[in-house]
Amino acid sequence: MAGNIKIVVCKTSEEVAKKCAGMFIEQVRNKPASVLGFATGSTPEKTYAEIARLSKAEKVSFAKVTSFNLDEYWGLDGDHDQSYRYFMNDKLFNHIDIRTWNTNVLNGKARFPAVECQAYEDKIVSVGGVDLWILGIGNNGHIAFNEPGSPVDSRTRLVSLTQSTIESNSDGRFFKNANEVPRCALSTGIGTIRDAKKLVLLATGAKKADAVAKAVEGAFSPDVPASLLQDHPDCTFILDTDSASKLKK
Ligand code: F6R
Repeated sequence: MAGNIKIVVCKTSEEVAKKCAGMFIEQVRNKPASVLGFATGSTPEKTYAEIARLSKAEKVSFAKVTSFNLDEYWGLDGDHDQSYRYFMNDKLFNHIDIRTWNTNVLNGKARFPAVECQAYEDKIVSVGGVDLWILGIGNNGHIAFNEPGSPVDSRTRLVSLTQSTIESNSDGRFFKNANEVPRCALSTGIGTIRDAKKLVLLATGAKKADAVAKAVEGAFSPDVPASLLQDHPDCTFILDTDSASKLKK
């Protein structure tokens, strides 16, 4: 499948961040009560700094925004410095006027994961769905913690992490060694993500080049979860030159 994915290639990761932050600011300027989807990881960090800067500089308020995050490590509570709740507070929420009670991150300590996951799905529906969701991509093509093999219609659920994801998240950027990385996570599904009205996936660095090329130009297949975005009506990949280096076109 050739796919509908729109590609924007930028010279630097700073430019990627500016483009993506600009999309979020425009979204909130045009619809102050937007429902936004966020991701964690290294890639969106500069975008979050730029959103915070622009929100102040251009006086765009996030006070009416509701947000949902893609995923959370199973077994970590929000105060743990490697939890995705902690990451979001630290990198974005503490720097804009979004109301904490309007920010939704799955509870990694939930007693009944299936109940937590269904409630998350229901909450997304009850606020009218996600308007704009930012995504990263794993070296193995994963989106959120939907590892290769995840079905196109998967919903929020408890999942196991692959060895490749455990290793890339313990390369010193996050956890110090692989033993510290939780083996499971709560993750929105590919179906959950595909329901968003607009998607923007960011990738930077040569390590992502293979996954990006397969996602955009390879088969529509659960083997490369990001390829399952090819038929989304409004999905843009914002790439730097390194991550775009293996694209044929
Ligand atoms: C995080 C997430 C993951 C990351 C991916 C890339 O919420 O959903 O899919 O987006 O693992 O991570 P980085 O940006 O650290 O390379």
